[in-house]
Amino acid sequence: MKKRLEHKMRVKGQERIAKETFRMTLDAAQAPFDFLAGTFLNIALPDGRFLLRRPLSIFSASKERNELSVIYKILGEGTRSLAQVAPGQILSVVGPLGTGFPIQSDAKRVLLIGGGVGVPPLYELGCRLKKEGTQVTSVLGFRDRESVFCEAEFQTLGNTIICTDDGSYGDHGLVTEAIATHGLDFDVLYACGPSPMLRAVDETFQGKKKGYLSFEERMACGIGACYGCMTPTKAGLRRVCTDGPVFSLGEVVYHD
Ligand SMILES: Cc1cc2nc3c(=O)[nH]c(=O)nc-3n(C[C@H](O)[C@H](O)[C@H](O)COP(=O)(O)OP(=O)(O)OC[C@H]3O[C@@H](n4cnc5c(N)ncnc54)[C@H](O)[C@@H]3O)c2cc1C
Ligand code: FES
Repeated sequence: MKKRLEHKMRVKGQERIAKETFRMTLDAAQAPFDFLAGTFLNIALPDGRFLLRRPLSIFSASKERNELSVIYKILGEGTRSLAQVAPGQILSVVGPLGTGFPIQSDAKRVLLIGGGVGVPPLYELGCRLKKEGTQVTSVLGFRDRESVFCEAEFQTLGNTIICTDDGSYGDHGLVTEAIATHGLDFDVLYACGPSPMLRAVDETFQGKKKGYLSFEERMACGIGACYGCMTPTKAGLRRVCTDGPVFSLGEVVYHD
């Protein structure tokens, strides 16, 4: 039987957790919970001005509480309007969508690398890996001190290093620099963040390590129908929404 993709979800709570950054908890009683970490929800904005849904990664999931949560940063009008949604409102949510992060059952030590709004999908992944007994280390990069979120949550998973672009908190500089400075070793890496960060991670580790990168490209339909999210890979053009957003290290082709 084909899975139903659209769900009506009641907003249970909205909380500001950092500069222009919110965590929204959704009542997901009707949604399936058998998804991979790293998949995303395509959320329709209740404000009728917006035609397109906005894709947001699943930050955490609790089957016991029938809850899914997302974390989002206000970037434009769509996310600004999402921040106005009050608890009790019903949202139309399509998903979970995308491929998600494959779990390497033979990996003993895993490195999570997140940048800004790429941090959220790594938390649910880290929780699942920790449950399997995998050693989890996280390196998370943010613009500045006020933008840092969920440090405490990641610390519950294992060693967590925070970097900021301006040095106002944690290490000063890029996540790739912190990995080298701290001499972090691992079997598999999982990364999500802005394209320049993913490219730097890819160029540093492809051919040397196993790893998976999640690309948060701009999207339209989110379900593979409009070809608006094509990205070049070694196997040709692929749709980020359905063939990804997760690709293996060395798979994506970057252009200058
Ligand atoms: C698979 C996937 C997962 C995502 N997960 C999260 C998440 O967990 N948390 C989160 O905060 N955001 C996430 N995003 C990004 C989020 O979807 C966008 O920030 C949001 O759609 C912007 O909508 P807007 O109307 O506020 O901004 P718009 O008005 O559409 O854009 C405002 C500005 O942001 C830029 N922008 C918009 N979308 C993106 C994007 N995808 N990448 C880079 N720049 C963009 C635009 O170019 C513009 O400059 C994800 C995107 C994808 C594709
Ligand atoms: S967003 Fe339409 S095909 Fe990917």
